[in-house]
This record gives sequence, structure tokens and C-alpha cells, in this order.
Amino acid sequence: MTVVHLAAFAAPRLRGWPRLQAWLVDRIKRAALRQLHASRAGELLLLRVYLIGEEATEKTLQHELMPTAPAWLQRQVDQHLREEQEHSELFAAAMRERGMQPPAELRPDWLSRAKIGRWQRIARHHAPHFQQGVLVPAYAIGLCAEQMAERVLSRHCAVLPADHPLQPLLARVLHDEGKHVRLCMRTLSLSVSEAEMPHLQRLLAEARAVDRSFGVSGAVGMYLAGVWLRLRARFVE
Ligand SMILES: [Fe+2]
Ligand SMILES: [Fe+2]
Repeated sequence: MTVVHLAAFAAPRLRGWPRLQAWLVDRIKRAALRQLHASRAGELLLLRVYLIGEEATEKTLQHELMPTAPAWLQRQVDQHLREEQEHSELFAAAMRERGMQPPAELRPDWLSRAKIGRWQRIARHHAPHFQQGVLVPAYAIGLCAEQMAERVLSRHCAVLPADHPLQPLLARVLHDEGKHVRLCMRTLSLSVSEAEMPHLQRLLAEARAVDRSFGVSGAVGMYLAGVWLRLRARFVE
């Protein structure tokens, strides 16, 4: 099988409206992070959102990839799962340190559920076009999710002061998500033939468009939640 060059899977350079949209989302989210860190409840909300994201990744690995993973991928999937479980434990510990017991059952918010639902439909639609079947869309969407995690955590580390108590945790998870981005790229490059590449690029473009379509509303929601929690904390104290 031909090995496709990894650069083919990097996030594309955006132009026009999508580029402006990404810039806007980034600005609003930076402001939202500052608002959320201004109250303990806001900081806890951020940790809870990360914990939910990690658990959603774990569930996907356990229920969707593990049962279908070929033998050559099994060790890699096990290691990936262990790392995502460590991330969950780290975020849960950070919540406990701040006085909150993480709930036993964490459900993604409606926006994330809608995004996951659309990603799953894209995966099912594209799977029959690849020789390796569902493995390819699973890793393509995994790649988008890991690239999103890398982007979110890089922004968060850049917004927080260097000596903020959450920096070591976020930097550690960011390092692992960077590793997972490369792992998804490598797996895709080993799983598709040259002839399947145009189809994979279409699949990636669709998955990234889903990610972007929730950007502005998600960012505004995050900002408003930050302002509300900051004002509430001031009022209660
Ligand atoms: Fe993770
Ligand atoms: Fe990851």
C-alpha cells in the first residue's frame, strides 16, 4: 500500500468568510476564557467541559473503534484510550481540588451532541467508499476532533498567565493531543490508497465544515456564560 504524505492531513489554510469566522471565534473565545477564569464557577465549568470532551473521546474509542480495529492497530488504540482516560482523571482531580465532585454521569451539551450526531452521519455515509471501511471515517473525524482539542488547548495556555495553577495540566494534555493528531494522520496515511485520497479529502472537508458551523454560536454562549458566572459570583460574595 502506498504511504500518503502526512502534510495532506494538516488543517487547511482558510480563506474568505471561513477565515474571518475562525478569527472571530478565536477572539470571542479568548474573551470568554478571561471571563470564565474570573469566577470559581466559571473555572469549574471549563474543567467540566474538558472532562465531558475526554469522556466522549473515550466512549468513541471503546465502542466504535475497539470492536472493529484490525490487529495491527490494537496496541495503538489501547495506548490512545489509556491516555484519554488519564486526561479524564486529571480534569476530575482538578475539579475535586476546587471543591466540586465530578458528577457520575456527564452528558455533552446540546451543541456538542448535535455536532457528534452530524459527524456520525458523515462517517456512516462515507464508510462504504473505503477498502478499510469505517476505520477511515472514524480516524478522519478523530483527526478533526484532536486538531480541535489542540487548537482549544493552545489558545487556553496562551490566555492564562504562565504561573497559573492550571498551566501544567493544560500543557500536559496539549502535548498528548498533539501526539494524537500525528497518530491519526499516520493511521490515515496507512489506511487509504492514493486512489481513495480525493474521497478522504472530501470527508475531511465535510467534517471540518461541521466543526466551523457551530463556532460562532458556541463562542458567544461561552462568553455569556462567563459574564453571567462572574457577575453572579460578585453578587453572591
Ligand atoms: Fe484527551
Ligand atoms: Fe486525544
